[in-house]
Amino acid sequence: MKEENIDVLSDTFELYMKKGKEAKDKGNVALAKRNFLLAGETMMKMAKISQGKLKEVRMERARRLVEISDNLQKHPISSGGKKNEKTDADEDDDLKKWQAAEIPNISFDDVAGLEDVKKAITLKMINPVKYPDKYKLYNKKTGGGVLLYGPPGTGKTMIAKAIANEVKAKFYAVKGSDIVSKWVGDSEKNINSLFAEANKQERAIIFIDEMDSLIGKRGVDTHNDKRVNEFLQQIDGFSGKNPNLLLLGATNRPWDIDSAAMRSGRFSQKIYLPLPDAAARKFMLEKNMKNVPVEKDFNIDKIVEKTEGYSGADIEELCDRAKDEPLLEAIKTDKVVLVSNKNFDSVLETFPPSVTEKEVKQFEAYNEELGLVKKKK
Ligand SMILES: Nc1ncnc2c1ncn2[C@@H]1O[C@H](COP(=O)(O)OP(=O)(O)OP(=O)(O)O)[C@@H](O)[C@H]1O
Ligand SMILES: [Mg+2]
Repeated sequence: MKEENIDVLSDTFELYMKKGKEAKDKGNVALAKRNFLLAGETMMKMAKISQGKLKEVRMERARRLVEISDNLQKHPISSGGKKNEKTDADEDDDLKKWQAAEIPNISFDDVAGLEDVKKAITLKMINPVKYPDKYKLYNKKTGGGVLLYGPPGTGKTMIAKAIANEVKAKFYAVKGSDIVSKWVGDSEKNINSLFAEANKQERAIIFIDEMDSLIGKRGVDTHNDKRVNEFLQQIDGFSGKNPNLLLLGATNRPWDIDSAAMRSGRFSQKIYLPLPDAAARKFMLEKNMKNVPVEKDFNIDKIVEKTEGYSGADIEELCDRAKDEPLLEAIKTDKVVLVSNKNFDSVLETFPPSVTEKEVKQFEAYNEELGLVKKKK
């Protein structure tokens, strides 16, 4: 493997070690722990691109660093300095990590189809915020989380943003894999600080994408199990108490999520986002072709027919690609070249749906298991 790669990693490793030792000497356990873990993670990367005996030695060293950092947590540094307390600097660090994201102005009206989904979300997440008195009158339960699941490109992230807009909330978007990979073993603390930060806001949505990588089924990997436990505690801590903190998860592998997270009061509401039906595809095609110069006999319905099985994201890409040829021609000739059905057909020839039938079947089987299936017509 490339030498310079090892050099960079080695420098990074030394830096984390240095910072870790400094923090340990000052008695800042949290910071020391984090740096030793990062050093361990870097050492693991070095091991991965090494061979033979060196690989083994590096793996072992990486493992030891994780151990050292674990022990730091269990036995706070006793010699001088502060005890196992968070310092202001630490607190600052956490705040920086969790800043509300800017969200584009997307509303429910922009989301094609998914009427059941919109209705369920309105009832569970939007109305409690808009009409708290009515919810009180009926003693209706609020809080808890909603899990959006479905194949890729079906609008899960889009809907999450639309909800944030509807209820005018701060939007904390987190990817499960980000939390996990950046802070191996430190993720519990980050989950904790995420909830703490969101709780400070008048109204906030925590949106966790790729939930499956954050809270997988327990019993396989101890890091995962710790994360799941922390996560469950956090959900239980706010569930039912703060209707202004909404928790939204998204995944395209719902069957991989720990089942305890799905119980009542947690992610008890699971909403399936299927591939778009004909009406939804038409809506999307029209939106994507709005104000675009098209041939007189341009027929959107024909494209609707040919795109069964295509996701929302696919449709967007299809439209974009179909515009390429006329656009290039227009540049070449400096004339307006109209988009035609033929342009779509030629793209479709080499552009199969990104979601396979097998994957769709997997979702259908999962829905059946949950008892959520609607009878097919
Ligand atoms: N129902 C929909 N209505 C309108 N546009 C949609 C819809 N579904 C998907 N799209 C389009 O596809 C793009 C991708 O959708 P989005 O990112 O929300 O998918 P996702 O379900 O979160 O996918 P992933 O599982 O890969 O994260 C959106 O930016 C949007 O343009
Ligand atoms: Mg998404």
